[in-house]
Amino acid sequence: MQKSQRVQAQKQLLDWYEIHGRKDLPWRDASDVYHVYVSEVMLQQTQVKRVLEEYYFQFLEKFPSFLALAQAPLEEVFGMWSGLGYYRRAKNLHESAKLCVDAFPRDLKSLQKLPGIGRYTASAICSFGYHQSVSVVDTNIARVLARFFGEEDAKEAHLWELADEFLNSSNPTSHNLALMDLGAMVCLPKNPACEKCPFVASCQGSSEPDKYYKTQKKNYENKKLHFGICERNGKIAMNRSGEGMYKDMLELPNIASTCQEENLLGTFPHAVTKYRLEVNIYKVDFIAEDVLWIALDSLHGAGISSMTKKALKLYNSVKPKLCSRN
Ligand code: ADE
Repeated sequence: MQKSQRVQAQKQLLDWYEIHGRKDLPWRDASDVYHVYVSEVMLQQTQVKRVLEEYYFQFLEKFPSFLALAQAPLEEVFGMWSGLGYYRRAKNLHESAKLCVDAFPRDLKSLQKLPGIGRYTASAICSFGYHQSVSVVDTNIARVLARFFGEEDAKEAHLWELADEFLNSSNPTSHNLALMDLGAMVCLPKNPACEKCPFVASCQGSSEPDKYYKTQKKNYENKKLHFGICERNGKIAMNRSGEGMYKDMLELPNIASTCQEENLLGTFPHAVTKYRLEVNIYKVDFIAEDVLWIALDSLHGAGISSMTKKALKLYNSVKPKLCSRN
């Protein structure tokens, strides 16, 4: 691309951002890099609306600084993350805070040494938190660049090169945010609104829609899970998960190998990442494993997953019937 074309496109992009960009998102004018970091971790796999309405402010109120986060027990961090999913993010954030109480890194390379920080998050922190002249590529920006430059099958490394080539070094932060918003609001995966795009005249993609506007098919995996609820004196048996996506969190004992149909309390569907789950909840009278006994009324607001919350809700709704049976 010639310099004059690039400069023109950069200007069109910033003009578009000025009018249509999501400039009022609170983390976009954060002066504290900790706020930018927390927002980026939350936004990694969660939609803006949910982060904004249910988690971002609450988390910062509870843990207002790296120090406050570092000093909190992991259980409390999970508590503020409860329902947000991908709990490894919360654990990594906590670990990083502990490593960075004195100073948070200011460069791409050092940032990527922290747990959970890859190239995207490091770039986002440098661009949005420190206003450095670095390019940023997330899935939205990748799609915009691939279409704009007509590079349908570009590999990730090449997209970063394109982003570097296109970076507007006189206003890199707004440039990156504008690309992100264009991808999120106009240059959509399906049915992009090309008529609203500042690049409509120069984009390589819009003139060949079939080639560039492919949709990806999701491959879901169906699974059945079986959990037991054993209650004694207001406490229930739980385990600390040792692996997988709920690592280190409290969960109900998995009783897949011993469950009995007659003890089934109920079933509910649950969708998480690529899994479409059928979750079966059973009443259990004796539990052989080494378990933790957790007060039922302490679980409200504790660091448990949405799936476990649903299971406990189901249990609470059928409990009156169980009691009247005994
Ligand atoms: N602003 C800064 N980073 C963002 C992100 N990851 N998603 C949406 N808006 C953002």
